Amino acid sequence: MKTRSQALVWVVVGAQWGDEGKGKLVHLLSRLFALVVRYQGGANAGHTVKVKQNKYVFHLIPSGIIRRFCLCLLGNGTVIDPEVLLEEVKSLERRGICVRGRLLIATGAHLITPWLLKIEQARSAYLGKRGIGTTGRAIGPAYEYKMARVGIRAGAVRSSNLLKLLYKSLAEANRELRSRRQKPVSRSEARKFARVAKKLAPFLVDCSSYLNQEWQRGRKILLEGAQGGMLDVDHGTYPYVTSSSPTAGGACTGTGLPPTAISGILGVIKAYATRVGGGPFVTEIGDTALAERIRQSGDEYGATTGRPRRVGWLDLPQLRRTIAVSGIQALAMTKADVLDGLDEVLVCTSYRCHGRTWRVAPLELHDIQACRPQYKRFRGWSGVSGQTNLRKLHPNFRRYVEFVARELGAPIVFTSTGAKEHETVVCRSKIPANFKLIKELAK
Ligand code: IMP
Repeated sequence: MKTRSQALVWVVVGAQWGDEGKGKLVHLLSRLFALVVRYQGGANAGHTVKVKQNKYVFHLIPSGIIRRFCLCLLGNGTVIDPEVLLEEVKSLERRGICVRGRLLIATGAHLITPWLLKIEQARSAYLGKRGIGTTGRAIGPAYEYKMARVGIRAGAVRSSNLLKLLYKSLAEANRELRSRRQKPVSRSEARKFARVAKKLAPFLVDCSSYLNQEWQRGRKILLEGAQGGMLDVDHGTYPYVTSSSPTAGGACTGTGLPPTAISGILGVIKAYATRVGGGPFVTEIGDTALAERIRQSGDEYGATTGRPRRVGWLDLPQLRRTIAVSGIQALAMTKADVLDGLDEVLVCTSYRCHGRTWRVAPLELHDIQACRPQYKRFRGWSGVSGQTNLRKLHPNFRRYVEFVARELGAPIVFTSTGAKEHETVVCRSKIPANFKLIKELAK
């Protein structure tokens, strides 16, 4: 029997504004893990994984589900729209992936009800362009209800009190809808919702007890964050953030595993930066033709909403902040191939703001908005696309990667050179001791 001393719990976090390509990395790593756990967020996230000729788009379920021996769990830090989840289950099953018995849902995860969607719609209609540009999946209202202690936990679907709880939450929502001159939601909607939500019952588990037991047994567990550090409700560009904690700290509150369980924290960065929705973006590329070229070649459109993503250069002050907040020990750089063929590639090394230089991005909005990027220029490269051999990567690209790793004080152990699983370069010599399992992937 394995013991806790052999256990391995890693966290994978996005270090920018989400959309760093965590899905591919999690899928790749899931070969090494028995369990993959999503710890926050909801169907606002979306990732696409290409396996051979197949393309899978996930919103809630971790991409580990594609591996037959991997068990997936949605942690208590997540918010779940039952209809969206059940549709995702169905669509995977239609493609021959067995989900039942391999997907677990924390009883403490919160449910997204139809009236929360109505609330989000009413609020964004009222705010119009003044809104932050959410994904429209009622993520904010779901976390608000959780904190206000009027939310519906997944575990409630097994309770004989379910309808009573739903009516209470509905009454709360209707008060807001009426005050916004919107039609209230009827109780029959709540009954309909209850019928769908009850279908989640077979998936439920006490997440913390289950994971602690698996950890004690020495099972390998991968904790997957959605979005990225700059969208963290505490540590991101508030108020232009999501309503949960994508940073590594969220992995403990969102699963009930203790901080002492975690043995490795891996950050994912793209070779450039993107952001979708409103909010400050210091390194945003003003040249629309160049931005459009990167957007097209990187397919930078929201996987959930289809919105074009804003595009910018890699931003080291921003990354220094998220690396510090999450305690990131090693990095994966994705989408390096997208920059193939550019004459030059820029990296922001510091900001100028209020007459001084900032190596770490400021936290407060009024400071960030006053920041100007200071760039270092690199000669462009080609031939990175599809490359699997470290030695064959273009020397200009290698200089870029080495510079970024040195400046950030974290080794870049993976470089993704394309959407397919094998289009990955593993830098064996840079793998820190606590990540030595990665070497299994390079065999
Ligand atoms: P919400 O999470 O839908 O409330 O949206 C809050 C902000 O986070 C908006 O600017 C969204 O565009 C952004 N956001 C939420 N999820 C993602 C994601 O998975 N990738 C990138 N941006 C996201």
